[in-house]
Amino acid sequence: MFTGKSVGELLQEATGLLKHVSNEGRHEVEILLSHYLGKERWYLYSHREEEVPPEVEKNFWRAVKLREKYCPLAYITGIKEFYGLEFYVDNRVLIPRPETELLVEVVESWLQEYGKPGCSFLQAADLGTGCGALAVTMARLFPGMQLWATDIDKGALKVAAKNINLHRIEHRVCLCRGDYWEAVKNVETGFDIVVSNPPYLTSTEMEQLTPEIKYYEPVRALWGGKDGLEAYRTIVEKLPEYLNSPGIAVLEISPTTAGGACNLVQERAGDASLCLQTVLDYSGRERLLKITR
Ligand SMILES: C[S@@+](CC[C@H](N)C(=O)[O-])C[C@H]1O[C@@H](n2cnc3c(N)ncnc32)[C@H](O)[C@@H]1O
Repeated sequence: MFTGKSVGELLQEATGLLKHVSNEGRHEVEILLSHYLGKERWYLYSHREEEVPPEVEKNFWRAVKLREKYCPLAYITGIKEFYGLEFYVDNRVLIPRPETELLVEVVESWLQEYGKPGCSFLQAADLGTGCGALAVTMARLFPGMQLWATDIDKGALKVAAKNINLHRIEHRVCLCRGDYWEAVKNVETGFDIVVSNPPYLTSTEMEQLTPEIKYYEPVRALWGGKDGLEAYRTIVEKLPEYLNSPGIAVLEISPTTAGGACNLVQERAGDASLCLQTVLDYSGRERLLKITR
């Protein structure tokens, strides 16, 4: 019901309600209120006494109720920022994480090393694209790149298609449904760049998830089989077949199973002129496998 409350009053009340959900309740309710007002967050600070329109207040309280039930903020607003770009997200896809941005940085510096950031004819694959965060970001950063973005999940591909349209790169990104390489088996030229952030949580880690993740994010995007390494078995097995020379594959890994992931590369692709390195994230944890040829 419309209560005719001011910006300041709504923020204060809602922050109290989110205390059990988040340590950043105040910040989160500011994001929600500014989202429904259609304003930047700073607007709230200079309009604390302003009365909030009934429709906005209704949407705001509906959102706060969802957040009280641990629904992630990004699913409520439908927006998540990745590498400075905006993406549409909903519960058909994993919410892109900041640590995944490191994949893009590694690809960027490899391209610089080879003097090809603007080169046309570069072919890249994003295996398990989800909302398309990696594929779209690379397409936006590297105008000469042609990309194949794959996912096994129909719903995820719909979300990726929406983001590809939003960023107007339909002509450069081809969406394919299927199991990792299976989806791109007809691409005869191979790939200069392969990126993937596959599902990598172990069965034990799945049991320990926070409610935000456990009740809302898709299991298919999270669970990597009993030991968390199922996706790497498939991806690494056929990497020598698909990766061009020179070429780079960057796979996100879980710091908890990094050793196992490295062993897999050595066992399954060790004899194929591939050079393996692990890359640490900004907290000093093993976060990526960088495989070059
Ligand atoms: C961890 S999410 C990553 C999403 C996105 N790339 C990102 O970094 O935010 C993993 C994605 O892989 C997809 N996936 C799971 N199993 C797959 C398979 N066998 N083949 C292709 N994609 C798969 C999931 O549907 C999900 O979208």
